[in-house]
Amino acid sequence: MDIAHTHVQSLGEAESVWFKLGLLTKETHPMQVLMRLNDRYGGCVPINLKDERIFFLSEVDYFEQVMVKGADKYGKYFDGLHPIFGNSMITIDGALWQKIRMPQQQAFTPKMFSEYLPYLLSSVKDKARDWERIAESGETVNLLEETWGLAASMICKAMFNREVPFNPQVIFRAVKTYTDVGQHNSIRMKKVNGATEVSSEEAAADAILKWLSVPSEVLGANPHDAVRGKSLLSILQEASDNPDQPEFNEAQIIDEMKQYLWAGTETTALTLAWCFYLLHLYPDVAARIRKEGEDAYGDRVPTWEDVHNLTYTRSVLQETMRLYPPIWSFIRQAVAEDEIGGHKVKPGDKMVMCAYIVHHHPKYWDDPDTFNPDRFLPENSGKRKRYSYLPFGAGKRSCIGGALSLVENTLALTQLLRRFRPEYQGEVPAGISATVTLTPENGTLPFKIRAVS
Ligand code: HEM
Repeated sequence: MDIAHTHVQSLGEAESVWFKLGLLTKETHPMQVLMRLNDRYGGCVPINLKDERIFFLSEVDYFEQVMVKGADKYGKYFDGLHPIFGNSMITIDGALWQKIRMPQQQAFTPKMFSEYLPYLLSSVKDKARDWERIAESGETVNLLEETWGLAASMICKAMFNREVPFNPQVIFRAVKTYTDVGQHNSIRMKKVNGATEVSSEEAAADAILKWLSVPSEVLGANPHDAVRGKSLLSILQEASDNPDQPEFNEAQIIDEMKQYLWAGTETTALTLAWCFYLLHLYPDVAARIRKEGEDAYGDRVPTWEDVHNLTYTRSVLQETMRLYPPIWSFIRQAVAEDEIGGHKVKPGDKMVMCAYIVHHHPKYWDDPDTFNPDRFLPENSGKRKRYSYLPFGAGKRSCIGGALSLVENTLALTQLLRRFRPEYQGEVPAGISATVTLTPENGTLPFKIRAVS
């Protein structure tokens, strides 16, 4: 309990960069504040605080410098996020990171994706069954909880060969309580003012304890498929049985699973949820996705080739991640001296790189606020400036699962839209919240699910 408390405090406490960013972005339109900062002061804004310096970067050349060309001068910054990720690939730097990432890379090849396909399809089928019931009842649901459950099931079945042994809704809410740094603060303010509500620390600590129990529950659950070939979990277990790979042991497997259960679920779920929101606003785009699916695989079960050929559906997801990048900023901490935008960088300085700004900047995109999936059709690729589109980061620390998430969401989108017409019930435009991820305000996108007649 105490350990959870310590970590909780570092994420929501005044020293954390996440907390400071929270102060900048807690307005109704948090990203407009950052866009104005960029318009007014340019792509490199050093912010001097009492005991540290934060560089706010929003220019593609600086992204390249920090994440690619000069990547060895910067380490990952993960203050307060260790309870979610443990000591896994995503948080580690240097030679150890390489040893941890290398063997896992083989779980993320197109050949493996094609082997995951039946398991991904099985998760989509389960979700379609839930939606039949929801459509019949006419109830309003939080679509983000729906897509979160689907993404968690996909990771568990395809990568760990397990059914989801936990209640996704409960875990979804627990994770949200923890990562919503702004919420930590507002609850603490109420406490200072004498209100009796539970303190942020207690709520977030409870949430993290719930979260910490998840990986061992998954590991202890029965295999989904007894005759299954390779999976990510079997690769991790093989590595831990290999005396030449001492960095892998039971604790490491648990931490790697922890990381996948968050990094592979939250981001994929946000993309699909924002996508359904946009499709409600652009029904002609939804109709084009349905037509593409009808032409590609009709009434049979889609094959790996079919998924590969759904180029328009994939473009819609890519455009969704341009407008709503789930990871809206990347943070690094300098470990060596450097110079950026004419400013000297010292070890310890934090670099906050804002992908959201370049995704929305007229310097890089025509008509940047318009939802136009055609930008990502194959014939238009190569037209944009390098590092102006970074949903999966850049350089050696870029996302290991980005291509997989596109397969997952392409499959989910084509299959669910053929049978359902999700109807958004909230205000337009939906508010956004710049927590650790870019979430809808209050973590909610209310929808009714209608069956396609
Ligand atoms: C739409 C879906 C996804 C988005 C937007 C996304 C985004 C990102 C980003 C931006 C990073 C780099 C962060 C940084 O540089 O600080 C990252 C890293 C990572 N992602 Fe993803 N991700 C997605 C899906 C997935 C999936 C499906 C998995 C695994 C199943 C995954 C696993 C990871 C891991 C392990 C890393 C750390 C890589 C390393 O440090 O070597 N992600 N992701």
